[in-house]
Amino acid sequence: MARIVVTRRLPAGVQPPVGSWVWEGEGPIPHGVLLEQVAEAEGLLCMLTDTIDEELLDAAPRLRVVSQMAVGLDNVDVEACRRRGVAVGHTPDVLTETTADTAFALLAAVVRRIPEGRDLVRSGGWGEWDPELLLGGDLWGTTLGIVGAGRIGSAVARRAAGFGMHLLYTGRRRKPHLEAELGIAYRDLPGLLSESDHVVLSLPLDDDTYHLIDAEALSRMKEGSTLVNVARGGLVDHDALVEALRRGRPARAALDVTEPEPIPPDHPLVGMPNCLIVPHIGSASVRTRRAMAELAVANLVAGLEGRPLPAAAT
Ligand code: GLV
Ligand code: GLV
Repeated sequence: MARIVVTRRLPAGVQPPVGSWVWEGEGPIPHGVLLEQVAEAEGLLCMLTDTIDEELLDAAPRLRVVSQMAVGLDNVDVEACRRRGVAVGHTPDVLTETTADTAFALLAAVVRRIPEGRDLVRSGGWGEWDPELLLGGDLWGTTLGIVGAGRIGSAVARRAAGFGMHLLYTGRRRKPHLEAELGIAYRDLPGLLSESDHVVLSLPLDDDTYHLIDAEALSRMKEGSTLVNVARGGLVDHDALVEALRRGRPARAALDVTEPEPIPPDHPLVGMPNCLIVPHIGSASVRTRRAMAELAVANLVAGLEGRPLPAAAT
């Protein structure tokens, strides 16, 4: 039994601490295997596909640090860890810009109907030039609403400012500094949804935000509008989204995250031309995944040595 358990091979070039046991199988570690492996573990480096709950903590009585290679911690019972004196680390900051790039790429792709254009070319359906072919929306001169203007949401807002977009945000707290820096205006969620041409979700999933975007919220969105989710699938009621996209409000959606993951290929959203789904690749650049792994290892080592973690869960 190992003192350190790592639930997935780390990106090339990043070494787990000497003596770590690393799951080398295909895909995420089966939960039963994880429960066995942590019996003697003092440190655990985990992924967002692992469930770190009371059951796991009971199975790991010697655990002192949980270091997750992701920023979102909805799969980790942080409170339960805290009660047991187990430090929890994650990987904020290092993935902010890459995830904002992804959010913007998804937004631009669906607004300008890029995936539909590619499908048309591939299917041999590209005929003579047509003045009405694949008319979409615009980025410039439109209003972007950001739900959750944390690190990632703010980085999305900075990109949007460069595209000449008007900016709105909503969140638990108002951010006067951000308002001054970006000229971004605060709205409550209903106000943001009804005024925005495009909405980006970049907030954590928890009990308060589960299905935040439900049928009622979707019904407030403008005709022709766009919904982008780069946070967690559980923020959106997917059945309600199917209905809403059929009605055209919103007109389009782009999802980096779904509920569940993977989304079954026969799910109605997968086949809809106005819905772009990619497989949770928000932070998936070579450089950023490496930085995330390095930070996760640094958090793990600090926790094992009883030092403050470089990036502790707050
Ligand atoms: C990825 O979704 C993360 O939370 O880092
Ligand atoms: C995540 O890092 C966020 O604060 O948006």
